[in-house]
Amino acid sequence: MVRGLHARAQPRARGDHRPQRAAQPRQARRAHGRHGRQVSVHGDDWPADPWELLRAWLPSNDDPVRPTMTLATVAADGSPDARTVLLSELDDAGFYFHTDSRSRKLEQIAAHPRVALVIPLPEHKRQLTVQGTTEDVDPSELAWAYAHRSDYLRRLAWLNTPELAALPLAERIDRWAGFEPDEPPDTWTGRLVRPTRLTFWAGRDDTASRRIEYVRRDGTWVAHVLPG
Ligand SMILES: Cc1cc2nc3c(=O)[nH]c(=O)nc-3n(C[C@H](O)[C@H](O)[C@H](O)COP(=O)(O)O)c2cc1C
Repeated sequence: MVRGLHARAQPRARGDHRPQRAAQPRQARRAHGRHGRQVSVHGDDWPADPWELLRAWLPSNDDPVRPTMTLATVAADGSPDARTVLLSELDDAGFYFHTDSRSRKLEQIAAHPRVALVIPLPEHKRQLTVQGTTEDVDPSELAWAYAHRSDYLRRLAWLNTPELAALPLAERIDRWAGFEPDEPPDTWTGRLVRPTRLTFWAGRDDTASRRIEYVRRDGTWVAHVLPG
């Protein structure tokens, strides 16, 4: 997790209902599954529903310190590409990130909507990798996400342009300081990554690391153990 410039999206308000969305936001980090059961990659049984592990591993949507993810895409000519984005939100549909609609990543996603995510959690000796398919987000999700971002990230949504990037530093600082972001720009957008494969890697000092991998088959999650 990063506390830097990009990292401070603001929490989603309780009671902010978005009817088209699959789930309410998670409220708290939980080390236990839905029924109070300890969920662990190294345990003898693991949950049938990978969301029990996701909820235990990832911070609540209310946490202003957002995890970073490497988002891997494939360009129209088949070349791989990757960059860091913030995990804005997790719900029962999947993982959300936000970006500029003119960005290279979205051009690539338009050609190849399948993507991969890597979420490193080294402080817990964990890593989550995801394969999935991207989907547009609905306007209410976008409005919520923009409203709950930090002032810095709202400015960035407006000012992170080739024109500003080409200016001398003093002018870039001036423009930044004089800008008051209100509504989101039309170019600001988000994507949902709906997972088709989820791989939970966990390390330990006293034995080998291992992974639990969940693959979506015929509408259900099938889990198996892999070496780390
Ligand atoms: C810690 C960190 C977090 C970032 N978060 C985002 C993000 O949430 N959305 C985004 O569009 N770019 C984010 N960026 C910038 C991207 O890594 C990337 O430079 C930018 O989106 C352009 O990527 P593209 O040309 O592949 O589209 C972040 C960069 C860093 C270092």
